[in-house]
Order: sequence, then structure tokens, then C-alpha cells
Amino acid sequence: MGFFNRLFGNSSEEEIFPFSISQIKTDIHSHLIPGIDDGSQSMDQTIAMLAKFEMMGFKKVITTPHIMSDLFPNTPKIILEGLEKVREEIHSLGMNIAIEAAAEYYFDETLLPKIKKKELLTFGDQYVLIEFGFHSPPQYLDELFYDLQSSGYRIVIAHFERYLYYLGRVDKAIEWRQKGINIQLNLNSLLGNYGPEIRKQAEALIDNQAIDFVGTDCHRIEHLGLLEETIKLKYFHKLNQISLKNRTL
Ligand SMILES: [Fe+2]
Repeated sequence: MGFFNRLFGNSSEEEIFPFSISQIKTDIHSHLIPGIDDGSQSMDQTIAMLAKFEMMGFKKVITTPHIMSDLFPNTPKIILEGLEKVREEIHSLGMNIAIEAAAEYYFDETLLPKIKKKELLTFGDQYVLIEFGFHSPPQYLDELFYDLQSSGYRIVIAHFERYLYYLGRVDKAIEWRQKGINIQLNLNSLLGNYGPEIRKQAEALIDNQAIDFVGTDCHRIEHLGLLEETIKLKYFHKLNQISLKNRTL
């Protein structure tokens, strides 16, 4: 029985080895471009968050501002210009963390035309981060998935565990993964940051190894303070059993 088994009082045969942020290497979900969504509201906030990302062991951050027609009508141009300003600041301060940008696309009526025009912001090898509303299940999902995949995009579903209508439906994540769709988990879901049922769903995804990516979904520096608590949890260390794609980016 290993040290972590004893630490977590695990009496089953399951062995849990320690896991660390440096093994994740790259965060793929955050809101760090100042002033364009509900994340960072200033360059100072962005730099403070990036300094903390670096201190915690991340090597790279792929930040994903919201693109949501009603609330945050961002464009690739707005996001990439914001990214350049952040990079200039990082460079002038001599910080080592790398930053790239993509987007978190909300599935609304403006998304399908953007897919057809192939104008989505991607990360890594054509990955696109997609989110749904939290309360009612998305309509026309088959059409969305078909259009994305036939346009050469690789789908990443943001924080699957947070969709209330899929609670208890890990089978849905398993089914999607069989179709080549990637599932992203918010690390702080493991802390109960979004409620006990979402924590349970996050743990079930890990137990079923039905996760491809993890993310911080960091909007404010407080989220990284919570992450310092998350990394003490048994289920964070169970991520060691999953071959996360974060580290390939
Ligand atoms: Fe997000």
C-alpha cells in the first residue's frame, strides 16, 4: 500500500499515485484576455493570474474567452489582438509562462454559420471548445457534431459535469467519446465549487476514465486559490490514471 493510499485512507486494492499540475502542463480553459468577457477585467488582473499559473506549475495557458452572441459577441480579431497585448506585457516582465488563445464557443444560432465558413479559433490540432446552456439540453446536437467534424474540427465539450440535464449520465460522455468527441472537466468541480451533485458527476467521470482534457475555467484569481485546495483531493490524484491530452499541447 503506497503513501497516498494511506494518506487517503483507501483500503481497497486501488493504488493512487501522486499527481501534480506540472503533469497537466497546459491549461486549456480560462478567461484571461482583459475586458472582453466575464473573466479578467484588467491587464493587472491577467498578469496576477498568469504569475499564479506559473507558480503552480503550469507551463502554458490556452485562454478561451467566451464567444456568445447575446452577452459576449467576441471575434477572432478581438481575441487575438487582446492576446498580443498580454504577450507584450508578459515579455516585458520577463515571465516564462506561454500563452495562446482560442475561444469557448456557446452553442447558439450564430455558431453553425461560423463552422461552415471555417472561421473558428482552435488550439492544438484543430480542437474547438464548445459549451452548452446549463439548464436545458441543446437541440440539433447531431447537426452541430456533424458540421464540426465534417469541417475538420475536433470537438471538446467544456465542463461536461456542469450540465444539470446530464447529471448521472456518464454514459452520454462515454457514447460521445466513442464518436471522437473530447470531454473536458473543470478541476474545481472536484472541490464542490459548483455544488455536491456536480462534484459527484466529476468523480464519476474520473472513475469511468471518461475525460480527455482538464481545465481551470479560471475567471478570477480566487479560482486558482480554490485550485490549491483541489490538488489536495484524492480525486485530483486519481487523474494520474487517465491519459490526459493537456500534456500533448
Ligand atoms: Fe469557461
